[in-house]
Amino acid sequence: MPGLPRFARGVYYRGEVTIAVCPGSFDPLTLGHLDIVRRARSLFDEVILGVARNTSKSPLLSAEQRVQIARAALDASPGLEDVRVEVVPGLLVDFCREAGATVVVKGLRGGADFDAELPMALMNRHLEGVETVFVPGDPALAHVASSLVKDVARFGGPIDDLVPAGVGDVVRRAVAERSARGSTDAPPTPLVTPQAEPASSQHATPTTEGTGR
Ligand code: PNS
Repeated sequence: MPGLPRFARGVYYRGEVTIAVCPGSFDPLTLGHLDIVRRARSLFDEVILGVARNTSKSPLLSAEQRVQIARAALDASPGLEDVRVEVVPGLLVDFCREAGATVVVKGLRGGADFDAELPMALMNRHLEGVETVFVPGDPALAHVASSLVKDVARFGGPIDDLVPAGVGDVVRRAVAERSARGSTDAPPTPLVTPQAEPASSQHATPTTEGTGR
């Protein structure tokens, strides 16, 4: 309903408020993520930024750091202050159900994003009927990815114009701490506690699962 405030549209004309979740690892949040959250906020009555776990990735930042970064960035972004930031503790569809969210919003930088996102979108629909809306991101930010931001930071390159204010320092600190521990990505604790092995089993191939390599 053009010309009506968002609140009136949701409450009086559709009879309901549509809550959307923008999920992601946000390791770290980038300007590309903020662009998508802004587009989601222009489409839906309420938006939740969901800091979730991607089991195929080993995060550089803790969930608490990622939540803090997102909260500070949204507070500093006019029009996005009312976007909630929450941790998604398990399945995204469970989180959506509990939050009353019916839509997931994901940004697309290009075809590779679509190829990666489509199976997740179909799975979320299969599990709980949650629909995904794909939103094309700003082409000027198509090169911005959390993984590339971390890679540039690891080699001392400039990242401050790719992430919200203050985030570059957090990333550089985390990268330095990781490197001081003698690792680029690997979590400090192995998935399987190493035990003294009998000589006969010492030829077994060690697992690299969970190292993020
Ligand atoms: O930023 P990412 O890493 O591309 O985001 C992927 C993420 C975290 C949204 C996805 O892995 C996810 O939804 N994780 C929560 C657990 C879950 O629901 N997994 C099944 C996905 S179909």
